[in-house]
Amino acid sequence: MLRLDRLAWIFMRVSGVILIGLIFTHLTVNLMQDGGVKAIDFAFVAGKLANPFWQWFDVTLLWLALIHGSNGMRVIIDDYVYRPGLKRGLFVSLGISTATLIVLGTLVVFTLDPCPVGSPADLLPSFCTAG
Ligand code: HEM
Repeated sequence: MLRLDRLAWIFMRVSGVILIGLIFTHLTVNLMQDGGVKAIDFAFVAGKLANPFWQWFDVTLLWLALIHGSNGMRVIIDDYVYRPGLKRGLFVSLGISTATLIVLGTLVVFTLDPCPVGSPADLLPSFCTAG
């Protein structure tokens, strides 16, 4: 087995276990609040993303889920696509879409402005109007 394939094999097992914990925490925190899924609005998301703990939690979940998912897709393409040109094209588009989502998702987590100027106060997290 190639060295890189061996590393990918280990990564899938380790990230799979970590993802179970991250995803169930994510679902519990977002869905078990008062009001459940209906309580998710800009103030809730902006409030979470203003907290470094949730920023790093989300970025870890984002990176692991995307790399785990795209590596799984890479293996499926490798197993089922026989035409070399098509296989290469699919690998390239998978790589580009994964990298794009990782960059955009990471930017959102670290650059979201929780208190956009001019927005109605009742749509913003409470700390925007405090003081
Ligand atoms: C009913 C199911 C789900 C709901 C209601 C939900 C809700 C949300 C909400 C409100 C956010 C905004 C930020 C935050 O709360 O931390 C978010 C972000 C995120 N969710 Fe979920 N989620 C669900 C399922 C999942 C699953 C299954 C995964 C991964 C496999 C996932 C991965 C992520 C990631 C990576 C982010 C951060 C995205 C970014 O801003 O870059 N979510 N989700």
